[in-house]
Amino acid sequence: MSFSLNSTTKLNNGVQIPRIGLGVYQIPPGIPTVRAVRYALEVGYKHIDTAKIYGNEVDVGKALKDNSSKREDIFITTKVWNTDQGYDSTLNAIDSSLKRLGLTYVDLYLIHWPVAGKIKETWKAMIKLLKEGKANAIGVSNYSIDELQETIQDSDIIPAINQVEFHPFNYSKDLLKFCVDNKIQVEAYSPLTRGRRLNHNEVLRISKKYNKSPAQILIRWNLQHDLVVIPKSSRENRILENSEVFDFQINQEDMRTLNNLNENLRTVFLD
Ligand SMILES: NC(=O)c1ccc[n+]([C@@H]2O[C@H](COP(=O)([O-])OP(=O)(O)OC[C@H]3O[C@@H](n4cnc5c(N)ncnc54)[C@H](OP(=O)(O)O)[C@@H]3O)[C@@H](O)[C@H]2O)c1
Repeated sequence: MSFSLNSTTKLNNGVQIPRIGLGVYQIPPGIPTVRAVRYALEVGYKHIDTAKIYGNEVDVGKALKDNSSKREDIFITTKVWNTDQGYDSTLNAIDSSLKRLGLTYVDLYLIHWPVAGKIKETWKAMIKLLKEGKANAIGVSNYSIDELQETIQDSDIIPAINQVEFHPFNYSKDLLKFCVDNKIQVEAYSPLTRGRRLNHNEVLRISKKYNKSPAQILIRWNLQHDLVVIPKSSRENRILENSEVFDFQINQEDMRTLNNLNENLRTVFLD
């Protein structure tokens, strides 16, 4: 499998999404976010993942303005927060996000978390803003199989993406299979386990074998499972390191070893 930072995968509505993106959760608003995004774009990242709740959409927008790339060459994702869910408030939420980002559309708009009782009406609003061209693709995040089923039950349009925590220590095989079977692309958040398993023995052993860092091994594992991956770093050396994952391939035996590390670890609930 040969990839580069320009490699994309096609979503179920034909939109191409770059396989790797920079996640900006917990990068402080202001200069740190502007710098991180600016640097990522300079070294060739084409995809940035933000959200209203991260509080740094304005800074992502600033970094985009500083960059000479054409708008259509960069893929921007943002997300509707839980308290904005519901039909009208979702429509208003994307307008506010677009204003903060300084954009007329996002490439991908996601429902950040499932909110019980609002799944269907929020999804209807997502379809409306897709049709209006405010988002080129729409999807969900943190959805279980049941919540995906509820979403697609009476809808012509199925989510293009389910963004979930995914790494060898949370290898959700059933969810992945359901998504693949229903043409929903899985996108891996917290692919580095937020640093919590980078020192695991097997990860270290495999990283030495390929002469790659533990972070690179975990990113590559996701790519080889055909996921889109959005590692976060605010440091230039790591932003670069996390993109240097295209010059090696983890063999089947080592993939199996990594697959067997699953412990249903959800780092998202630990902070
Ligand atoms: N949809 C959702 O509910 C949801 C939830 C969580 C995350 N996300 C998205 O997914 C993105 C990534 O997830 P995440 O931020 O939770 O965690 P992550 O990418 O798994 O890990 C980030 C942590 O790893 C460190 N790190 C980065 N590169 C490294 C490297 N090469 N070597 C060693 N340590 C490294 C970072 O520190 P430094 O910054 O200091 O380098 C940071 O502490 C987020 O930014 C966000 O865009 C979405």
